[in-house]
Amino acid sequence: MNAERWQQIERVYSGALARQGQARTAFVAEACRDDEGLQKEIESLLAYEAVTFSISDWAVLDPPSTESLDRFIGQLVGARYRIAERIGEGGMGVVYRASDEQMRRPVAIKFLPQAMCRDVNRLNRFGIEARVLAALNHPHIVTVHEVGESDGVPFFAMELVDGTTLRERIRGMSMPLREALEVVHQIAVALAAAHGQGIIHRDLKPENVMVRRDGYVKVLDFGLAALRAQTPSTESRPSAGTLGSIVALIGGTPPYMAPEQIDGAPPDPGNDIFSLGVMLCELATGANPFAQTTIGETFRAIQQAPGPAQSAVSTLEPRLQTIIMKALQKERSQRYAAVSELGAQIRQLVTDIDVETAQARRFLRIRPYVAAMMALALTAAAGAFLTYRHGERIRWVREEAMPEIARLATVDRFVPAFRLIQQS
Ligand SMILES: Nc1ncnc2c1ncn2[C@@H]1O[C@H](COP(=O)(O)OP(=O)(O)O)[C@@H](O)[C@H]1O
Ligand SMILES: [Mg+2]
Repeated sequence: MNAERWQQIERVYSGALARQGQARTAFVAEACRDDEGLQKEIESLLAYEAVTFSISDWAVLDPPSTESLDRFIGQLVGARYRIAERIGEGGMGVVYRASDEQMRRPVAIKFLPQAMCRDVNRLNRFGIEARVLAALNHPHIVTVHEVGESDGVPFFAMELVDGTTLRERIRGMSMPLREALEVVHQIAVALAAAHGQGIIHRDLKPENVMVRRDGYVKVLDFGLAALRAQTPSTESRPSAGTLGSIVALIGGTPPYMAPEQIDGAPPDPGNDIFSLGVMLCELATGANPFAQTTIGETFRAIQQAPGPAQSAVSTLEPRLQTIIMKALQKERSQRYAAVSELGAQIRQLVTDIDVETAQARRFLRIRPYVAAMMALALTAAAGAFLTYRHGERIRWVREEAMPEIARLATVDRFVPAFRLIQQS
């Protein structure tokens, strides 16, 4: 959604809020004339009553303009990072591949575009993100090397993750179960470390997780991370419970946010547990169970959690269903107490699946062995027979019965195979 559209939504929505009853209906109908999408969006927002909306911040949440930052391509920033090419962007920063000429290693440089620097909250958040990442020294969390500024543009240098985002990896499809569990387990381990330091990510989604070529997972983008003890009021951002704070949190669509996060509750590790549950569901089924066409409908779907996920998970392995549903409970107290508990359950499921797979493999290995034994017994029987009988009967045994018995044994039809042996 572009900035203009956000502004349009804001205008019509605030106008509608200022009116009541018939006047509101008439205003919306007039403002949304010939624009069915806008009307749906406004109606969905008006219908969502749990939140007092104030969307004045939305425009700045548009993906940053990257044009001006491309001027750094080929240049040296921070006196050591040679900028190569743009590799990603989100609601806040623009990321480039670069080469650290001092250390002779590839790095990723995340810039905060100038338009965002004018917003003091954004600037603060950028600084907080760098500091949070620096404080979190964990193999599954991207490492920050240095914070700097080039030509008035703040940046930080971090390890370059050689892989793709989870969003690119899934491309709207489900992942093989074992792989999905491995990915989510690694994210859970990273989050457990962050939570252990009192840091809550609050913006977990497939765009903010990268999977390296070797399958190793790295959690990115702590741009909205919060300290557990810190209440939203310590920052001069939109107050809790306003749509401004929600969109500031999500940078677009909200289908990964916990219900209490939408309602502006203070940060809690349970927020990340819910988001991880949504991601696990999406990886396993190929779709986010709460995503709807409008923001208001998505909010409502999340407020009905875990309801909308129930049918989505119904075809999954039952133990996986239990894990997802527990992470997606609307009430925080019904979810896992800690993300490490969720991680442990996933680890246990991976172990169980591995044991079951090994058992199945052993069984399949036994099958050809049984077939070979039966063929051997048949050959012995036929050999004995040959010493007594000749002629047509021998031909039948050798050319018809024997191959048929061997075939039946291979496909596990032991009873007819035995019958044929007896006849032979
Ligand atoms: N360290 C990294 N290595 C490789 N790619 C990265 C790295 N950090 C970010 N990216 C890419 O840049 C995109 C935006 O980065 P992110 O930190 O999520 O920014 P934003 O805060 O704007 O969402 C990511 O989705 C990813 O594609
Ligand atoms: Mg991001």
